Amino acid sequence: MNILIHDLNNEQFQSLFPEINNDIYIISDTGTIRHCIGCFGCWIKTPGKCVLKDGYNNIGKILSKAGKVTIISRCFYGCYSPFVKNILDQSILRRIIQKGECYMKICIINGSPKASESTSELLIGYLIPFIKENEVITYNVCEMGFSKTQFSLIQHSDVLIFAFPLYIDSINSALLRFLIELEKRGFGNKNINVYCIINNGFYEGWQNHVAADIMQNWCKAAGLTYGQTLGSASCEPVQSS
Ligand SMILES: Cc1cc2nc3c(=O)[nH]c(=O)nc-3n(C[C@H](O)[C@H](O)[C@H](O)COP(=O)(O)O)c2cc1C
Repeated sequence: MNILIHDLNNEQFQSLFPEINNDIYIISDTGTIRHCIGCFGCWIKTPGKCVLKDGYNNIGKILSKAGKVTIISRCFYGCYSPFVKNILDQSILRRIIQKGECYMKICIINGSPKASESTSELLIGYLIPFIKENEVITYNVCEMGFSKTQFSLIQHSDVLIFAFPLYIDSINSALLRFLIELEKRGFGNKNINVYCIINNGFYEGWQNHVAADIMQNWCKAAGLTYGQTLGSASCEPVQSS
């Protein structure tokens, strides 16, 4: 399907397109559109569909079927017009639906107390290019207080990936606190697969096995599916090289 998004008035449209092909789906301004309120409802509550019932809430589904998209817009400060930008903001939904199917929603949780200066962060950076076609969000457990919405995004993911360091043959206390909190809050999606990337300072990756067992126990307690753990070793040298 070809799509035309425009902000022309009737007169301008008629003069530009006196005969319009029926194959083209036209998205124009009917005056009812409401701006994205950033609630992530299209992710959590009604996947792939905007929660605002303004007549445009199915835009994601329509854009997901697009072959060619043509945009005609006035230019404001180098940006689109507010109506066209409104439609494009909603196109985030297009990434959630593709051919009627959902992309995976992947939450990566960096459980290193060093957060962005950590080996965990480095390993996450290596991973992301392989999964970038999905909806990926990354959180630093030890750096931020989580909002209800952020918890909600974690609770409604398809996949959780925990990347964290080995601390005294185990997991660190900040991550442990976070895991307990997550279990207490529960999960909207019980089919979440959990994977771990655990890195340590000594020479063998197998040293992470106790921490991996703890994560497996947490999955059981939280009712989630434990996938696999990748144990990575000698990580301080990796980080500094
Ligand atoms: C408190 C503490 C305890 C640690 N315990 C271990 C350990 O038991 N075995 C090990 O191999 N490395 C241990 N390490 C080293 C870290 O696992 C290693 O430095 C890791 O690469 C840090 O990862 P990050 O940068 O993602 O936080 C420990 C480090 C700290 C600070």
